[in-house]
Parts: sequence; structure tokens; C-alpha cells
Amino acid sequence: MARFVINAFNRKSKISKEIYGHFSEHLGRCIYEGIYVGENSPIPNVNGMRKDVIQVLKKLKISVLRWPGGCFADEYHWMDGIGPKENRKKMINTHWGGVLEDNSFGTDEFMELCRQLDCEPYVNGNLGSGTVEEMQNWVEYMTFDGISPMADLRKSNGHEKPYRLKYFAVGNENWGCGGNMRPEYYADLYRRYQTYVRSYGANKIYRIACGPNSGDYEWTDTVVKQAGKFMHGISLHYYTVTGDWGKKGSATQFTEDDWYKTLRKTLVMEQLVTGHSQIMDRYDPEKRIGLIVDEWGIWHDVEPGTNPGFLYQQNTLRDALVAGINLNIFNKHSSRVTMANIAQIVNVLQAVILTEGDKMVLTPTYHVFDMYKQHQEAELLESYIETTPVGSDSNTVPNLHESVSLSSDGKLHITVCNLSLTDSCRVDTYITGFKAKNGVGRILTGAMADHNTFEAPEMIKLVSFDNFSVTEDGLTFEIPARSVISLTLEQ
Ligand code: AHR
Repeated sequence: MARFVINAFNRKSKISKEIYGHFSEHLGRCIYEGIYVGENSPIPNVNGMRKDVIQVLKKLKISVLRWPGGCFADEYHWMDGIGPKENRKKMINTHWGGVLEDNSFGTDEFMELCRQLDCEPYVNGNLGSGTVEEMQNWVEYMTFDGISPMADLRKSNGHEKPYRLKYFAVGNENWGCGGNMRPEYYADLYRRYQTYVRSYGANKIYRIACGPNSGDYEWTDTVVKQAGKFMHGISLHYYTVTGDWGKKGSATQFTEDDWYKTLRKTLVMEQLVTGHSQIMDRYDPEKRIGLIVDEWGIWHDVEPGTNPGFLYQQNTLRDALVAGINLNIFNKHSSRVTMANIAQIVNVLQAVILTEGDKMVLTPTYHVFDMYKQHQEAELLESYIETTPVGSDSNTVPNLHESVSLSSDGKLHITVCNLSLTDSCRVDTYITGFKAKNGVGRILTGAMADHNTFEAPEMIKLVSFDNFSVTEDGLTFEIPARSVISLTLEQ
């Protein structure tokens, strides 16, 4: 039995909807095939975007989509991807698989994708190999309403009105694939480049600096100290890797110990967000600057027989737990974490959708986003759950992991993960400041390596969860082993 305490009187911070953001890179079959098939494809599409994919993504209420990378961003020259498609430059995607990039998906297509998804575009600029002028022109092309060379160019490409663009990042992983820079050097470059990332008219740009690689606290300290006043956000990248970068491990073939190891390494996100937030607090106690976790998720070895540069991996119940834990962490840190983007949306790393030709499957991670979407824009409530250590000696994790919020329609949302492979747990919940009358629940559970395939697309799916009862004190429920549940209560 575990006690779970929720204090609805203590509303801690707003859970920004952008925490439920996604990432789409010109990598493998993410953009091409996964989302964009072109207007002439036999796969049903609207302006080149797959109808089936857009339809299921809309259900998730995707708040923000990051593009065009990733490492690709610091090699991307946006002018190659505008204008008549037959004139667009063909090039090799040197970073990802050495395949042809025909630039048929560029800025205007990305904006069309965001329009169809009804989400905020988040564009990642090229600081590593691009010029200041190029970055300045890109922002002018996208957002300037009036007469100017770039606005005129956009109009001549058939887009009379400027786009609304809020989020713009000045470089990606500039400590690595984005130029192998030292933090002092990047901070100076950031100050210079961001000067020309202009806000035109009512379009106010939220400028995001390149942040650290996982636990590189020196990077955060230097960049925020030297350039903090010029940024609205700073990124953080952390991937869960079960093994090591040389042998990460299979997505579907793993042991019970691997299960716990994966979840232990996922929980490192809590330390990272706490550690980087503490550094930011030194320079920005008002929490003006957001911590933008714009790459997170699990990184496995690629599926056997697929292009190693395409990062295509399957997705099991274990990955669903990875998603649930990370999202609970972001919710709990929503006073500082204002955006997060899982890597990546379709066919790459911890994708929510996998495609093969005209077929599509939803992954367990998709279902977690579906359950957790209730937290978007809700207020985080103070909560605490008693836990018991589970796992092996070297890979011990708490059995339960949760977060709770209250939305503006007065509903209380609880999400809980049970990390134990073997034991269910009865949870007695004590709620103050909210008198629950009734509720609805959903659950994702199965065997540890259950996953959806094109042959068996519903091996693992969301079902309703009714093993709970409203009590005098709040609520009692029994959460099965290996599961993620969501409960929405009304008073
Ligand atoms: O998401 C895949 C890659 O991981 C991104 O391109 C890069 O930013 C990170 O290293």
C-alpha cells in the first residue's frame, strides 16, 4: 500500500502546453515519408502532408513542433528550400545516412504543416555554418509584414501574409555537431547572432540559446552568465540510453534488469533539470528564462536491417514508462521548464508514430501523450507519493512516479506510472481542497516488451481503467505492475 497526498490548495505553477511539444528533423523517414509525401503521392495527403498522420497527431493537441533539426539545423541553408520545387537545390544529407535531400520540404511547407496541426512553429536557426545575414533574412522572410527583400520573396512564392513565429533557436548542440564550440565562444556568438533575430510588428520572437549536453553544468553557467539577458530560453538535451553510446541496446529484446536500468537512467532527468535550474536561479531568480528540454527520449540501437543513419527504432511498453516519467518530471518543474520536445515525432528515435508505405501504427508513447494531454495549461498541484524501491541491486528505482494538475474547467488530473515489473500497488489518496465526486481513468499496460507492429497494430493500446473508488478522503486505486494510468476527477 502507498499513501498519496494531493494538496489542491497549493497551485504551484502553470504547466505550459509547450511541455507537450515534438521535434521533426530532416533525418531518416521523419519528414519525408513519415509526414510529407508530396502532392502527387498515392498516399492521401493535403498539400503533401499525410492525412492519416495529421489526423492522429491532431488528437494529441500538439502544442509546438521544432524543425529542421537537430544536427541538420546547423547545416541547413533555408534558401535552398524555398521557391519552385524543381529549382530547389539537391544535396546530400551528410549527417544522416548520406541520402539525397531534395529540399522539397522547406520553410513554407513547415509552416503549412504547423497550420494543419494547429501548433506553434519552432524554427532552429543555423549558427554553426550559417551567416548572421542568413539568419536575419530567414526571420524576415517568415515574419515581416511590409515591403522588404525577404517579404517580397515570400510573396513571390505565393505567401502574401507573414507567418506567426514565436520560437526561434540560435544554433543546436553547438558544443558538438553544431561547431564543437567552447561555452565562452558560443555565448559571444549567441549575443551577436540574436541581435539580428528581429521581432517585427506584433510578432514577438522568443529567442532560445543552445544549452548543455545533459550534465554539463559549466556550459549552462557560462552561457547564462554571459548571455542570459539576451535570451528567453535555453535548451537542454538528455537522452536515455540503456547501454552506452557504442552499444545502446535493442528496443525490443531486453532483460528485466535492462528494464530497471532504463528507468533508472530516465530518472536522471530529475537531477539534470534540478541542477540546471539551480544554476539559472543564480542569474535569473525571477525565472524569466525558460529551460527548454528540446530533445529528450530513449535512444536504442536501430532496428536490424535499417539504415544506421536513420535512427529508426521500435517502441515498447518500456518506452511508454520512459515518456510518462519524463512528462511527470517536466510537469513538476514547470516553473522553470516551459517547453519540451520529444525526439522525434515520426519514424525516428522515440516516435509516437511509425509508418511503412501507406500504413501507420501508433506507438505506446503516443498513448502516453494522449493520456497526459489533460495537463496542458493546467496548474500543477503539490503532491507526494510514498514509494518502495524495486529492481535489482545496481538498478533500483522507486515503484511509483506521479504528477497532478487542476485544469481551468475545475477537473483534477492525476498521472501515475508503476515501474515495478511484478507488483501492483494499492494507492490510498488523500486530497485536500478538492472533493472528488466521480472520475474516469485510462490505462496502458501489457508485457514489458509489448509493442505495435504493422501486422499487430493494437497489441498495446489504451483501455479504460476503473479499478478505483472515490472515498471520504479522496480516492483509492490499485495500479497494476508495468503500467501508466491517468485519472480525471470531477467534484
Ligand atoms: O535527435 C537526433 C540528434 O540528436 C539531433 O540531431 C541532435 O541534436 C542530437 O544529438
